[in-house]
Amino acid sequence: MSTEAVERLNELRAEALACTACRLSEGRTQVVFGDGDPEADVVFVGEAPGQREDEQGVPFVGRSGQLLDQLLGEVGLERKDVYIANVVKCRPPKNRDPRPDEIEACKRYLSEQLQRINPKVVVTLGNFSSKLLLKTETGITRVRGTAYEWWGRHLVPTFHPAAALRGSAQVLEDMRYDFGLIRDAVDGNLGGESDDTEVGDPVKPDVDPEQLGLFGR
Ligand code: URA
Repeated sequence: MSTEAVERLNELRAEALACTACRLSEGRTQVVFGDGDPEADVVFVGEAPGQREDEQGVPFVGRSGQLLDQLLGEVGLERKDVYIANVVKCRPPKNRDPRPDEIEACKRYLSEQLQRINPKVVVTLGNFSSKLLLKTETGITRVRGTAYEWWGRHLVPTFHPAAALRGSAQVLEDMRYDFGLIRDAVDGNLGGESDDTEVGDPVKPDVDPEQLGLFGR
């Protein structure tokens, strides 16, 4: 891991730790900036920190995090190999959904994280990150199951682990399929002439690079 990569993220982390751009800063115990390898091939993007994350300052340390670790393990990945962040970096009160103005105020951190890490694959967990990064109103049930070509890399939307914990066995099965896509995308086994796996495009990723500041490799 290069020291420059660590420093690039640490500068941004320092800004986030002092952030008061929205009301969520008032109720937080800790800013949950993100965790993992600053040069990871895969970045996972969740929704918002919960209680355990707010206490520890680390994303996905609760039950959802345990399931995430399990699914990673099933495709031969470990948490230390990936980077994990959220759409908003501070816990919403009583775990309510993040509000549009909070997402707006926070999204520059996610945008900068993605640019500084520059991963091969971005995985959006649940509706909030999927809708933000694919810039669509279409829900996760319809957009998942496909790896999208997205700014010179792949984006794989899947359910939030919390949906699998409270939902049916089908949700978990669908997540396992999507994690297989993540593995294929990391290994370069999606699309391309030597492979007829389709890289679908049912929802046109309509991200304005000026707005999110995301550019291809
Ligand atoms: N759920 C999220 O979306 N993010 C976390 O960090 C923990 C739970």
